[in-house]
Amino acid sequence: MTTPYLDYDSIANDYNQRYPSSRQWERGDALLNFAKQIKAKTILEAGSGTGFWLNLLHQVTPQLYGLDFSAGMIAQARKQPAPLKLARSRATQLPYQFATFDLIYCVDAIHHFDDHHAFIREAFRLLKPGGALAIIGHDPHKAGPSSWYIYRYFDSVYDTDLRRYPAGTSVLKWMNEEGFRNPTSQLVEHIHNEYEGEDVFADPFIKHNATSQLALLSDESYQAGLQNIRASLLRSKERNKPITFHSEIFIRMWVGFR
Ligand SMILES: C[S@@+](CC[C@H](N)C(=O)[O-])C[C@H]1O[C@@H](n2cnc3c(N)ncnc32)[C@H](O)[C@@H]1O
Repeated sequence: MTTPYLDYDSIANDYNQRYPSSRQWERGDALLNFAKQIKAKTILEAGSGTGFWLNLLHQVTPQLYGLDFSAGMIAQARKQPAPLKLARSRATQLPYQFATFDLIYCVDAIHHFDDHHAFIREAFRLLKPGGALAIIGHDPHKAGPSSWYIYRYFDSVYDTDLRRYPAGTSVLKWMNEEGFRNPTSQLVEHIHNEYEGEDVFADPFIKHNATSQLALLSDESYQAGLQNIRASLLRSKERNKPITFHSEIFIRMWVGFR
């Protein structure tokens, strides 16, 4: 599998826009509750980005490790109030000792890793016996192309996501193959947004650099997608038929124990 490369250094400065302080994140609650439940003392986030989730876990333990491939994202993570032990590397080559962590997790990141299965294998090696791997994200294989209006209006985005994201069933299979006990998955967040007509342009996730789905598009392809939306808006006006743009995204957490 070839994962399209997104240069996170170039969007690192704006990345935290996606985390307005007013918003409560159900996936964050799920992660926090899970870390508390398993009494995790040493935690690693792979693809830790700007350290938003690690900072949340500071209430569970001070032993917080973050690993990311982007130096720009790591520089942002250093600004978090919680002291984080940060390293720059690929998630498929985790530079830590055997059996170091109680919890290894990733959030919205596995689809960027060049080899999903290799990451799961590495995680098994680095977990203490009884430790857990938690992979949080969405599964476009399960979602379908009409679940998110971005998939319909921006050419190639859905197909690219099918190539980038592992299917949830594969994640469970790889966990089983690597020896994880009781691999399971659960729904941890349901994003449901509807934008009526022109309001769609107020969706923060329609910005070119707000998500990797759109950031991977050239300026030309991004503009072509916006043009598709404008054309639909025009048709809906001509027919006097209101148009609604839906985002229906299910965020799951896949968990396995060493
Ligand atoms: C969508 S961001 C998620 C960041 C953070 N987990 C969050 O939820 O805010 C994906 C992150 O994965 C990192 N990344 C991409 N490829 C990687 C790789 N092969 N190994 C480690 N990190 C990688 C990117 O630099 C980026 O910080």
